[in-house]
Amino acid sequence: MPQNSIFLLLTILVVPSFCIILPQKPPKVKDCPVQNCPGESNGNCGKFGAGWKNFTRPLGEWCMKIFYENSTTQPIAEQRCQAQGATLSGLQNQMEAQYVVSTVTRHIYPETGSVWVGMARRSFCQTVGLTEDCSWATSFQWTDNSAIGFDGFGWACNQPDNARGRSQHCGVLTVSSQGSVDGTQTGLLDDVGCEFDFIKNDKKERDIKAYICGKKP
Ligand SMILES: *[C@@H]1O[C@H](CO)[C@@H](O)[C@H](O)[C@H]1NC(C)=O
Ligand SMILES: *[C@@H]1O[C@H](CO)[C@@H](O)[C@H](O)[C@H]1NC(C)=O
Repeated sequence: MPQNSIFLLLTILVVPSFCIILPQKPPKVKDCPVQNCPGESNGNCGKFGAGWKNFTRPLGEWCMKIFYENSTTQPIAEQRCQAQGATLSGLQNQMEAQYVVSTVTRHIYPETGSVWVGMARRSFCQTVGLTEDCSWATSFQWTDNSAIGFDGFGWACNQPDNARGRSQHCGVLTVSSQGSVDGTQTGLLDDVGCEFDFIKNDKKERDIKAYICGKKP
């Protein structure tokens, strides 16, 4: 066999197997969980310090920050936001929801859970489930005095149903790296009791992991 044929044969046999056993480096992910990425403008929210991110809403600019705390109730989360000069943040649209869901998913991975959102069941819908008057669009209202309309109401299947004895007067986003947690779809809203104890009710994988605060700059 001429030398260059042997070389060719070696190339064909050796190089592919060599390539296959080479350890693959995981791709570098651009990770900007709290601060904005370099060069990205943060409007007037930077003055509040790290983690406050700007969003543009019909009623003006809005700054949101995600705080991580396990098993908090909604009233405690609201108090914590107020201590920051803020309030629990609503969701003006799906872009805001997506920001919260993706940021929290990365932060708590491989855990899963729920995030308190600034929303409350309207009083005339407190004693009913889903009806014509109390629908996905009208059962709840935003409480942050900034979000308006119903673009932010991305509910999980058949929600908000006011289950558990018509006790579900608050709202959470479900967060997970999978499609659903305990049958509830990820990235969407669910109505829950404002002081619901996920762990006592055997729903540890949906326990509260975070809350979103928001304020005007
Ligand atoms: C944040 O503010 C900047 C500057 O005003 C603006 O260009 C950008 O669109 C804002 N970001 C969001 C998500 O609204
Ligand atoms: C929440 O609980 C998980 C374990 O379930 C733990 O890994 C994590 O550090 C806790 N987070 C906070 C903010 O305490």
